[in-house]
Amino acid sequence: MSTGYRGPHALSNRGWLDFVARLERREEIALVRSLTSGNSRALDVGGGTGELTHAVAVQLGGCTAVEPHTDRATRLRETGIEILPGSAEELPFDDGTFDVVLANWILPYVTDLEASVREIGRVADLSHPEAKVVFIGGAPDNELVALLNETCVPVAGEPPDDQGYLLAVAEEVLGRQGFSRFDLYRTEAALHFPEADLDDRVRAAARTLVNFWYEEHPAAPEMLTAVEPALRRHFARRPHAVGDQGVVLVARPGPA
Ligand SMILES: C[S@@+](CC[C@H](N)C(=O)[O-])C[C@H]1O[C@@H](n2cnc3c(N)ncnc32)[C@H](O)[C@@H]1O
Repeated sequence: MSTGYRGPHALSNRGWLDFVARLERREEIALVRSLTSGNSRALDVGGGTGELTHAVAVQLGGCTAVEPHTDRATRLRETGIEILPGSAEELPFDDGTFDVVLANWILPYVTDLEASVREIGRVADLSHPEAKVVFIGGAPDNELVALLNETCVPVAGEPPDDQGYLLAVAEEVLGRQGFSRFDLYRTEAALHFPEADLDDRVRAAARTLVNFWYEEHPAAPEMLTAVEPALRRHFARRPHAVGDQGVVLVARPGPA
């Protein structure tokens, strides 16, 4: 495992919206729902467009979300969901306000990793019998990250992405805050490319992948060229999807 993270990444609005439109994440949503079923006060940090926040809100009758780009929160303007502008590094809540805190796919984007995890742990109510913090990040065999590492990351001159480091830091920081039980789960999610014509599909996938992390990068056109041959090889094995495999870290207080 790497000993540092190359981030934080930029995540443009259009890049994320195009990505979410292709993303199928039923397994992730089901797991988040089952993990939160015994909770009542939920916070989703970096809720984004709100697919997971919405699922939790439907189940619990409400959910609070904090998101620096509230214009992204297309699913969050629904009954029972409170959306506040803010960042993981400085959460606008008292200690122990929530019995479950979710932080899904946000650690590559925060500017201060340790401060963000500390804040997430601080607002969790450790006295609640179902107290927990849930993080989701990229699995070691994440196909999307592997494609970006092979093609775009070298063009950007950055070290390869390894999201395991982020969850390892989260575990270490929360371990200093009274969390002692850590469980890991795996989820399958995927970006879908139903285009019948291979050239159309490769172009669509190249745009989605490059825009996800590098939409505003000056070398984005060069990255589009670099990613296309790798996508052709990928689609020869898995014709209509790029996997976005996740690792879910659940931290709880109490005996290990
Ligand atoms: C990849 S998206 C994930 C969104 C959502 N959690 C989900 O799983 O659908 C990352 C989100 O993190 C948000 N973000 C970026 N920097 C952040 C920060 N410092 N604190 C909290 N959220 C942040 C972005 O605006 C974006 O909505």
